[in-house]
Amino acid sequence: MRLIMLGAPGAGKGTQAKILADTYKIPHISTGDIFRANIKGGTELGKKAKSYMDAGALVPDELVCELVADRIAQEDCRDGYILDGFPRTIPQAEALDQAAEALGQKLDYAVDIDVPDESIINRMSGRRACVGCGATYHIKFNAPKKADICDTCGAELILREDDKPETVQKRLSVYHEQTQPLIDYYTKKQMLVSVDGTQSMSDVTTAILNALKED
Ligand code: AP5
Repeated sequence: MRLIMLGAPGAGKGTQAKILADTYKIPHISTGDIFRANIKGGTELGKKAKSYMDAGALVPDELVCELVADRIAQEDCRDGYILDGFPRTIPQAEALDQAAEALGQKLDYAVDIDVPDESIINRMSGRRACVGCGATYHIKFNAPKKADICDTCGAELILREDDKPETVQKRLSVYHEQTQPLIDYYTKKQMLVSVDGTQSMSDVTTAILNALKED
């Protein structure tokens, strides 16, 4: 199974991608997580990506396309993968089509998690991310057992720099301008599956799994 997760920032792509990756036993590839790991590690890529991310802008296509093309060529991606946060622009989608074709891979579905902007702003202010392992929580909808401490690795939980309300607004407008056109792109390719992302996390998972089974 080769899946692409689509949806606005905070729609629940990462949450659902992790569950689907466990279900199908395939890698979860999050370009946001890759950039954050590079920022933490102080790499050249991290240094280049940081200013764009902090401003709520997209990292330039040339920094991300090659990185994903290399990642999906790795051995663990042979039986499938879930792309979370990529593609985010039409040129990225075209680059992915080319990379997949060169590897003889067929992309199966683009799963759009649909959540209106009003709900996104509320969600993001409640999200907490682990500084150690990157796990994601929500103070109301998916709270850690101990406040501000990761259940998995015990490290501190923080509000991501780009989850501050003013940056979330910017990310939403970037999403509508540059990423939403991908809904049409994948509809035309008959790959789009759309689910209501305002339901509970487990209902969203059920809706996705049912939609993938029905097809
Ligand atoms: P990235 O990390 O990909 O951020 P994003 O797409 O903005 O998505 P998020 O991680 O913010 O949200 P999500 O949809 O995964 O939601 P989550 O599951 O966490 O990218 C960050 C930045 O990196 C970008 O702005 C850009 O600068 C750069 N970048 C990355 N990829 C790039 C690319 N391809 N090209 C260029 N630049 C790139 O859920 C959100 C919260 O809601 C959580 O707290 C969760 O617990 C909660 N939640 C989830 N589902 C539900 C539900 N059903 N009900 C209630 N709460 C829920």
